[in-house]
Amino acid sequence: MSFEIIQHRPSQAFIHLQNLIHNLNVLRDGLDPQYFFCPMVKANGYGHGDIEIAQALEKNGVQTLGVGLIEEGVLLRQMGIRSQILVYGTFQAKSVREFARWNLTPVVSDWGQIAALENYNWENPLSIHLKFDTGMHRLGFTTSESETLLNRLSENPFLKVQGVLTHLHSAENLIHGSGTSWQQLEELRAIEKQFNKYNPVVHALNSAALIAGLKGPERNEILRFGARPGLALYGYNPIESDVSMDLKPVMSLRSQVVRYHHIKSGDSVSYGATWRASQDATVGVVPLGYADGVHRLLSNQGYVLFGQQRVPIVGNICMDYFMIDVSSVIKGLRIENWHDHQVTLFGFDRHNNLIKASELAEKSKTITWEILTSVSERVPRILEDVN
Ligand SMILES: Cc1ncc(COP(=O)(O)O)c(C=O)c1O
Repeated sequence: MSFEIIQHRPSQAFIHLQNLIHNLNVLRDGLDPQYFFCPMVKANGYGHGDIEIAQALEKNGVQTLGVGLIEEGVLLRQMGIRSQILVYGTFQAKSVREFARWNLTPVVSDWGQIAALENYNWENPLSIHLKFDTGMHRLGFTTSESETLLNRLSENPFLKVQGVLTHLHSAENLIHGSGTSWQQLEELRAIEKQFNKYNPVVHALNSAALIAGLKGPERNEILRFGARPGLALYGYNPIESDVSMDLKPVMSLRSQVVRYHHIKSGDSVSYGATWRASQDATVGVVPLGYADGVHRLLSNQGYVLFGQQRVPIVGNICMDYFMIDVSSVIKGLRIENWHDHQVTLFGFDRHNNLIKASELAEKSKTITWEILTSVSERVPRILEDVN
């Protein structure tokens, strides 16, 4: 049975697919096609909608995609995605059959997983990627385990090492040409040599590292380490204070004022009365709240685009609503004569004015990744090809 849920509220996340493709081209431009390139679409495509993002990337020549969970990979397969899908997250023995069933490629990072893969009754060889912990101390084999791992896998005709990888913990230091990232990459290079009988692809570069490679002086040295960009694909440069990159935000979170209040000087707004008007004011009520992913730390801190201007968020963010002070825009006008009720929390407004999610991240003491992935399921994603 299929049914359609009618959208009753005017809060939506617009997804600018043309910006996604622009970013893809900027990041891929000049990359040697022999180097591994795997856009990350995990966590619902960083909040943008993994199916639609994967479809758009595939249509534009991408052949490998990265997810965090087996479930994410299965969903993409069910929706007809044909690219190779790497599952970067950890997995349990009982899940191993899903790799065969859905043609997913596991990123293997511990001995329990090796045992689970060895014990499965494979009909066809399975390609695997091996993750090494070179300093992040999250997932991966230690580099001292590589010899034993190589010997053990050499005995198994069903497990084919297609790739070796690591993850950089402070990739932003790569642009400065020294530091921990280079050490991590050197360790990966040694692993790559050790596994050379498999002729594995090698990968390590997240957005910051890829941009350091594209823009820094050691381009070829860095770029050979294969890329798994996430954030940059969605329009944000994690090292923008060091180097600029022509990236365009892919998501715009917009709503509409649903109610206006004319309040008197001294009146308060929202729970706890944490904001009081210092003069008579016009306050707009926006139907987006922390249950939609608007961080509560933005209470009395953030601002939005309204009437092409930045206006402040006033009072505490509620579960379904927040309030803004629109006095500076409405000025002496009567509300009946004001027709542009659109509010943009981040991304582009209809006139191409921009508030970056990274600005919001700073205001709410978090990172851009969290702002984007926090936009909750109850906010409909609207695909748009133009801003
Ligand atoms: C293993 C791995 N590779 C690549 C990425 C992409 O990182 P970024 O979004 O900084 O490009 C992530 C993101 O968390 C990751 O966990």
